[in-house]
This record gives sequence, C-alpha cells and structure tokens, in this order.
Amino acid sequence: KETKEQLIIDAGQKHFGATMCKSCGMIYTASSPEDELQHVQHHYRFLDGIKYTGWKKERVVAEFWDGKIVLVLPHDPSYALRKVEDVKELVDNELGFHQAVPRCPNKTKTFLFISDEKRVVGCLIAEPIKQAFRVLSEPTGPESPSSKECHRAWQCSDVPEPAVCGISRIWVFRLKRRKRIARRLVDTVRNCFMFGCFLKIDEIAFSDPTPDGKLFATKYCNT
Ligand code: ACO
Ligand code: ZN
Repeated sequence: KETKEQLIIDAGQKHFGATMCKSCGMIYTASSPEDELQHVQHHYRFLDGIKYTGWKKERVVAEFWDGKIVLVLPHDPSYALRKVEDVKELVDNELGFHQAVPRCPNKTKTFLFISDEKRVVGCLIAEPIKQAFRVLSEPTGPESPSSKECHRAWQCSDVPEPAVCGISRIWVFRLKRRKRIARRLVDTVRNCFMFGCFLKIDEIAFSDPTPDGKLFATKYCNT
C-alpha cells in the first residue's frame, strides 16, 4: 500500500514525469521498466536497513517530540553494531564514498536518530581528532573553478588548529530533511562526546563535506 507522489521536476525532458517514492525517497521514472526494477531493489533494501526494532539495551542520549537519539559504541552488542554497519552502508552508497576504514575504530561514536515510526532517519559518526584545517570561504566570481568539477575541493588553510571531535559522516533520510535533525545530532554530539563538557563550535570539525554538508555546517557554525 505505497503512496506515490507525482513530482514534476523542471530539469528538462530527461526527468520529466519523475516520481518520488514516499517511503524510500528514491526518485525514478515509473514509465521505465529498468528504473522501476532499480527502485524495487533499492526500496526493500533501504527500508530494511533503516528499520529499527528497538534494543534490549539502548543508550538513549536525547529525547524529542518526534524521536530520540541513541549512541552506539564500539563494544556494544553485535545487533547494534550490525545496524550501524547497515546504515553506514546505505549512507556511503548515497554519498558515493567507498568503504573508508575509520582512523580509530575503537573510539568511534555513532549517533542514530530514531523516528517515532521506528526508523533510523539520521546518522552521525564522530571520532576523536587532534587538529583540523579551517575551510576558507569559497572563491566566487568568473575565475572560480566550476563547482561541478571539484565538488570537494574546498580551500583549506594550511595552519592546523586544535580540535577535539571530527564528524566523518552526517546524514538525514531524504524525506526527513530540514526538520533540524542534523542540528540536533550535532548538538547531542557536542554534549556527549567528552564526558562533562559541552564542546565549543571550533572544537568540532566536519571532514570532507559534500555541498549539502557544507551548507549545513556553515549555517550551524554561524548560529
Ligand atoms: N541547503 C541549504 N541550507 C541547508 C541545507 C541545504 N541542503 N541543509 C541544511 N541547511 C541549513 C539550513 O539553514 C537549516 O535550517 P532551516 O531549515 O531552518 O533553514 C540548517 O542548516 C539546519 O538544517 P537541519 O534541518 O538540521 O539539516 P538536515 O536535518 O536537513 O540535514 C544534511 C542536513 C545532513 C546535510 C542532509 O541534507 C543530508 O543528509 N544530506 C545528504 C548527505 C550529505 O551530504 N551529508 C553531509 C556529508 S559531509 C560529512 O558527512 C562530514
Ligand atoms: Zn521506494
């Protein structure tokens, strides 16, 4: 009993009549059997990946009107670690990241935002760092390189600054974006990453941000 929303994306002939699935968020052309098949394959894998059945032992670190945040640590039970792996795989897939080995797997902290519908709709992976390079504001004007060609080539200063917490992944389910879930995840990390202190903005750093990530981080760091 899926409901599908007909979306008309104004991006030329190619995307005309694109449909967005209201459950998994995938955008595809319903009239194309190939697309339809790809959607079906993605649909079940995705919904299974983000399904959250509830755990006997869960570490709830924040609660909200529309969900809660649970923290998963490296030595947690295997059912928790398996869920983190499944979600991370979906996220990396969406971001086009290849399996990157965390620098310090023993110290990685994963924060999952669980919605009231019992789904993992947000994920943040944090690890301890010692220093970070500040991202300089983007060069603008006709001279600036096309943003399509170098998505991630933001200019960074060459002077390292001390930092405490590196955010290596932040992701929110497409259909739940712009509801401050990412903001609440970062607030929670600042509160929980180091026992007994609330990290300052300049003690956290976003690694290798995507354009979405950069827009969010810029906004977050300025408010
Ligand atoms: N465009 C413009 N501004 C944005 C965007 C955007 N796409 N996303 C967030 N913001 C700004 C807004 O000002 C927003 O406040 P507003 O909605 O009141 O205007 C503010 O940031 C807070 O946004 P949230 O609602 O907390 O962010 P959200 O829950 O939508 O998640 C995220 C943001 C995680 C970047 C999401 O868009 C996403 O998952 N994108 C795809 C995955 C991705 O690219 N992740 C970043 C990878 S980089 C890394 O992991 C280090
Ligand atoms: Zn779907």
